[in-house]
Amino acid sequence: MTASHAAANLVASRSGPLRGDIEVPGDKSMSHRALILGALAAGQTHITGLLESDDVHHTAAAVNAFGAKPERVGPGAWKVSGADWRSPAQPIDCGNSGTAARLLMGAAAGFAIEATFSGDKSLSTRPMERVLEPLRAMGAATSGATLPVTISGGRLRGIHFLNRTASAQVKSAILFAGLRAEGDVEIVEPAPSRDHSENMLRAFGCEVESDQGRIRLGARRTLTGTAITIPGDTSSAAFPLVAALIMPGSEVRIRTVMLNPLRSGLFDTLVEMGAKLTLENERVAGGERVGDIRAAASPLHGVEVPASRAPSMIDEYPILAVAAAFAEGPTVMHGLGELRVKESDRLAAILAGLRACGVEAREEGDSLIVEGTGTLPRGGCEVPAHDDHRIAMSFLVMGLAAEQPVAVDSARMIATSFPSFVPLMRSLGARID
Ligand code: S3P
Repeated sequence: MTASHAAANLVASRSGPLRGDIEVPGDKSMSHRALILGALAAGQTHITGLLESDDVHHTAAAVNAFGAKPERVGPGAWKVSGADWRSPAQPIDCGNSGTAARLLMGAAAGFAIEATFSGDKSLSTRPMERVLEPLRAMGAATSGATLPVTISGGRLRGIHFLNRTASAQVKSAILFAGLRAEGDVEIVEPAPSRDHSENMLRAFGCEVESDQGRIRLGARRTLTGTAITIPGDTSSAAFPLVAALIMPGSEVRIRTVMLNPLRSGLFDTLVEMGAKLTLENERVAGGERVGDIRAAASPLHGVEVPASRAPSMIDEYPILAVAAAFAEGPTVMHGLGELRVKESDRLAAILAGLRACGVEAREEGDSLIVEGTGTLPRGGCEVPAHDDHRIAMSFLVMGLAAEQPVAVDSARMIATSFPSFVPLMRSLGARID
């Protein structure tokens, strides 16, 4: 961790144009999955591009405690030797990471072991029942509805599950538990959630069918160690991209960004708002669509974002709200109920941050309305980030383009997902102190 990330507060001030060509670190969702599936697979898995952030380090430590052997062999390069999981001696500390907690619970439930999962203050308030209920239906015993949660697994049966909240974490927990269950394992999704688990399970040799919202594990459920390449995190790329759009004269290129369509709703929305985003060098890498994205400063206008798009950009609403504050006209975002149970109540945190910066915004049910005026937000405030990395990064981006500087607290939480955020933004010309 660099000194800047250890600092409790960071201040972003209006800066000159952002210019440069960068890569963002590996995708967080894929990094958790690569470590967990590597730990469940027979033989060795070689991972390149792993995100080395606090959240992912918790997953690496967890799979080690379950008996697998994750080993760092170079920057972003890890080797994992899979194992039959054993009961860990201590509670598994998931830190701030809901993905670590929920996916590990599913994977552990497949084994005849007992494990307790704990986490930090924020994670200890987040709902776990959405994962525990299907795991119980499959035969696991659980106690606790929020962390600490204890699970005793083994001898699981199949399940047909309706994934009402379009949660990829719930779907993944069921799929991972299902690897060692007897019988059909089927999940029906009324709205599709990110499919990295399905894609990666296939890369490990497991049979997974997905057809029109029905995801089924096939008969072949054994995993064999493989090589996994992780492209740049779509959600991390969102911060420098939006910064470039709202800072006059900017032109930034981000190489090798993951463009899985179930993750890239923000880019579609920004283009509808008038953003000059160009996709270059589109290709498939590590089983996912990737490309280089070029962003140039653009006048933006407000748009209406349908609820149906929420699962494909669920982590991007804080930074979209910042983009909307620089747009002309209202931006209306629907279907944001899930934001209330993220690392913070993100709907409340976005509203409070925007208002502190002098931007008019309101919530109506599960919708957020940001009144862009086409003029620069005032800024000149401290925004409470509520220990939430994406709130902290979003309002730092606000401060780079607002009239007056914006300070955020809990800046150290940025290390959970994007430890190089500050140096990377500075390398483009951003003033963050
Ligand atoms: C994630 C799924 C999403 C997302 C989270 C990562 C994943 O959560 O918000 O940051 O890696 O599966 P939900 O499953 O709760 O929608």
